[in-house]
Amino acid sequence: FHNMDRGWLGTPIDELNRMPQCAPPLSHLKAAPHHTVTVRTDLLREGEVPVPYPGKFKDAWDDVFVKMPCSEKNLFPLETEVWSLSHFFPLSFKPIPLLKSRMNHSLTLSQEQIACLLANAFFCTFPRRNSRKSEYCNYPEINFYRLFDGSSPRKIEKLKTLLCYFRRVTQTKPKGLVTFTRQMLNNPPNWESSQTQLKRLHITCEGTIEDDGYGMLQVDFANRLVGGGVTGHGLVQEEIRFLINTELIVSRLFTEALEHNECLIVTGTEQYSKYTGYAESYKWKTSHKDETARDDWQRRCTEIVAIDALKFRHFLEQFLPEKITRELNKAYCGFFRNKANSKHLSAVATGNWGCGAFGGDTRLKALIQLMAAAEAGRDLAYFTFGDAQLMRDVHEIHTFLTERQVTVGRLYNLLNQYSSSVCKNCRTTRPDISLYSFIHEKVSSPTPTDAPESAKDSG
Ligand code: AR6
Repeated sequence: FHNMDRGWLGTPIDELNRMPQCAPPLSHLKAAPHHTVTVRTDLLREGEVPVPYPGKFKDAWDDVFVKMPCSEKNLFPLETEVWSLSHFFPLSFKPIPLLKSRMNHSLTLSQEQIACLLANAFFCTFPRRNSRKSEYCNYPEINFYRLFDGSSPRKIEKLKTLLCYFRRVTQTKPKGLVTFTRQMLNNPPNWESSQTQLKRLHITCEGTIEDDGYGMLQVDFANRLVGGGVTGHGLVQEEIRFLINTELIVSRLFTEALEHNECLIVTGTEQYSKYTGYAESYKWKTSHKDETARDDWQRRCTEIVAIDALKFRHFLEQFLPEKITRELNKAYCGFFRNKANSKHLSAVATGNWGCGAFGGDTRLKALIQLMAAAEAGRDLAYFTFGDAQLMRDVHEIHTFLTERQVTVGRLYNLLNQYSSSVCKNCRTTRPDISLYSFIHEKVSSPTPTDAPESAKDSG
């Protein structure tokens, strides 16, 4: 399909899988050793505010659970006003487990509980969390104190977005649940010998992940401390998403820094605001009524995955085989779903992951994401964020590779060859042969050493 007028190429977006249509019915929601649920699952009803479980606050003050403001052990002297304001919502539910490094664990909270936790974050009442030097040094900041420091236009617009959220959830109690899953990749794929073919690609220079990727697995271009600079100065893709889908911010309360082989999957957040602009020009626009369908667990069918790319100071660094493998595994960790049938998996909605603040190369990252998605059995919808040339280039290489049935393994070996023959001896800051023309040439006229079999042998 070629449709230059509409600004997209490849498979029409409506042919890609979206939730809830593509998924089989969910099993009944219940707590399990790997899943903490803080509401009464037996009383869960569509259109009703979920009932917290257990009905009264259970204190825990240790290194496995979040230390709560209302704990008896909290010695921080709270002003009465702040105390009562932050108790706008009752904090009555079981201890919240910290999602620590190397844990595969899910946590399901109600949107009402999240609102209560975020109100506490707003008033900076979470104990031991006002200094990054403390026991929580490997966690993102949760208290909002830095937002009140200074009056930059950025912070004003951030506060408008947050206040819109608090206005909304205090006017009408939200009635759903949100699940946070920390996922670790135990056995990375053997990229070198993968026989997988690339899956379908829809690529467009118009639209955004959040608007046009509804029902898909939406990528958050994350920081290893999820949410990045959302409670401070940052205001790019991840921070904007955390502001408009405000419930994402609560993940900062319990998600330890992501390791190279880990991601955080968040299902069910709601979008409360619309915005215009980006970074310096970001502006809160209006309140947004999210009409996304809810699943049987009363979660909005919005699945967002936080994967943190590597930050590159020198452009050529990213072509090193170990860096490429790291990014492949990170993306794969985000896209892979255990025991899932490819036909039930939604497409991945992504774009220039790692290529803004983190300085990555869009053409390399697009291939990496295509390879990871293929290995995980998913199609890809790629939003180039206005870059029409990138759209044409990625579409062209994807068509070329698909027509010639180039496998993920072959592609991986070509990337390694590019690294050793073009990037290694490069004396300038950028490679003198572009990655895509290198791949074109090698695939079109392979010399004996470039043939897939020998590439495998030498690997
Ligand atoms: N939809 C599609 N593409 C987008 C969107 C959107 N809504 N917004 C931006 N882009 P960046 P990174 C494109 O810099 O390089 C944060 O502080 C746009 O082309 O946010 O992975 C995190 O917390 C943009 O240049 O991602 C990390 O610390 C590109 O995506 C750090 O930034 C990259 O967006 C991650 O930086």
